[in-house]
Amino acid sequence: MKAEFWHEKWEANIINFHQQEIHPMLKKYKSIFTSAMEQNVLVPLCGKTLDMDWLLDNNCFVTGVEFSKLAHNQYWNERNISPDQFSHKDFEITQRNKLKLYCGDFFNLTKEEYEKFNGPLSVIYDRASLIALPKEMRIKYYKTIKELSSDHTKWFLITLEFDDALLTGPPFNIKSSELEEYLSDDFVIELFEKNLTAALSHKFKQASINEVTETIYCLTKKRSKK
Ligand SMILES: C[S@@+](CC[C@H](N)C(=O)[O-])C[C@H]1O[C@@H](n2cnc3c(N)ncnc32)[C@H](O)[C@@H]1O
Repeated sequence: MKAEFWHEKWEANIINFHQQEIHPMLKKYKSIFTSAMEQNVLVPLCGKTLDMDWLLDNNCFVTGVEFSKLAHNQYWNERNISPDQFSHKDFEITQRNKLKLYCGDFFNLTKEEYEKFNGPLSVIYDRASLIALPKEMRIKYYKTIKELSSDHTKWFLITLEFDDALLTGPPFNIKSSELEEYLSDDFVIELFEKNLTAALSHKFKQASINEVTETIYCLTKKRSKK
């Protein structure tokens, strides 16, 4: 998926992935995101998701990364906020209170750069991020997530499973065997739940896919071997 693909979607305002409701799994698994200590939550490929508002309302420090400038502008404008702005390395960063939005390519974010402004990463919130990427980019994504994570970082991951013979994504089908193959050396992988999705998007209906499962995982980074 070239960057241009996504920029064109934002310019044409074809952003069917954008949800008007907070994802229910955030509330259900609230304890992952809230604790006595400050939680630094990273939202890769964040678009302008309302889920960031829920995380902020629940006292998290949130960093969203998204390469569409339009998405960032829309996020702030829709809340009538004029954020502070600064640049650092490959990113233009806008910030207000506990939220930072990094405008740039997620694959350029380094652990050093993330931690410089935020401290160690507690939780990654991933809805429609991994599933937006084709296989060769997912492999890069796994590597980036591994590099950004510290011991015990949690990755709350919402994926989709469907018959991918009928639809080339996005969204892409994510098999649990793929997560095992690329991540099990570094993360403990827990499957939380699988649910058949009730409201199928137009894309699935067009491809005659009648069964789509939303699968929720929580991956916890193992302690690195010294
Ligand atoms: C399917 S959308 C999901 C957005 C968001 N997670 C949500 O739930 O609404 C994927 C988003 O990732 C952005 N994106 C894709 N590749 C990216 C990359 N390498 N770096 C930063 N953003 C990227 C796209 O512009 C798009 O807004």
